[in-house]
Amino acid sequence: MSKETITKIEIEKAATSKINDVDFNNLSFGSIFTDHMFVCDYKNGSWQTPKIIPYQKLMLDPSARVFHYGQAVFEGMKAYKDDEDGIWLFRPDENFLRINKSSKRLAIPEFPEEYFFDGLNTLLKLDNKWIKKGFGNSLYIRPFVIATEAGVSASPSSEYKFIIICSPAQSYYGGEVRVKIADHYSRAASGGFGFAKAAGNYAGQFYPTNIAKEEGFQQVIWTDANTHEYLEEAGTMNVFFRIGDKLVTCPISDRILDGVTRKSVITMAKDLNIEVEVRPIKVAEVLEANKNGTLKEIFGSGTAAVINPIAGFGYKGDKWELPKIENSYAKKIKEAIMDIQYNKAEDKFGWRIKVD
Ligand code: COI
Repeated sequence: MSKETITKIEIEKAATSKINDVDFNNLSFGSIFTDHMFVCDYKNGSWQTPKIIPYQKLMLDPSARVFHYGQAVFEGMKAYKDDEDGIWLFRPDENFLRINKSSKRLAIPEFPEEYFFDGLNTLLKLDNKWIKKGFGNSLYIRPFVIATEAGVSASPSSEYKFIIICSPAQSYYGGEVRVKIADHYSRAASGGFGFAKAAGNYAGQFYPTNIAKEEGFQQVIWTDANTHEYLEEAGTMNVFFRIGDKLVTCPISDRILDGVTRKSVITMAKDLNIEVEVRPIKVAEVLEANKNGTLKEIFGSGTAAVINPIAGFGYKGDKWELPKIENSYAKKIKEAIMDIQYNKAEDKFGWRIKVD
């Protein structure tokens, strides 16, 4: 990000800032947005001049493809501020590659790398004051692409908007998280687009997650659509199981999001001398480990959630609480990753990128 800005970006600054109206000590995730947004239109076969404009509503034709066929993808990233006011991104190259991978699967034209990084850099510098210092404070960055062409023909749009909006954030989940292991509904199937951050992957989870919420859970751990025997991911997070002293997580596939935090957890755990197994994991194995006392932790990983310990889980009407342990792997790995994100520790993996 410290490379020269080569993209010509048209900038219109907000006349006034909303920042003084915001209670930064009491943020509910993703509900308040900064003063500016990045917008780039695709039409006539190419991405047009990118713009940064005051945060505002969009005007779209009601027949725009995104409303009817869900042709939309997004990313989740975060910017962090260190004690010297330096702004840092965590593995942003991964998010850039992934949004284009998602776009390709949804027949959306890929976005140019310089537009993405120059746009993001300029936007973050402009809304710099919205990034608060302190462990746990961050700016959640939401790049997304929507199909804007008018007309309800069920075919890919010829026009799109690539937008980046930013929201000051603290934690994603307000309290303890309990998960229900799916035994009926599915999130994704082989050959589908579960690996993509496509809007529809999330919409499809809302109904079964509402049912799980009525039963006292906050999230669902999805299982494979064919047999419901194998644990996959938690929708807003990838999942890890600590069985004995081993950390186990399932391999990525075309059904599972290739989480940036997930791959960072695997690398960091190994670096902390924790044995990690990336392999298919059966519901039956976790139930057995829970029964014989070797299931010590379950946690989820994701950009928004960082690393979130799971307090309890349920399956086919039964519910269990997990032991509360000190020095959990979740805590150890989370602190080590956050130390890199907030520029408090050496970054031996080259994950941290300065915005300047
Ligand atoms: C993220 O962690 O960035 C996500 O995409 C989860 C989101 C749906 C809140």
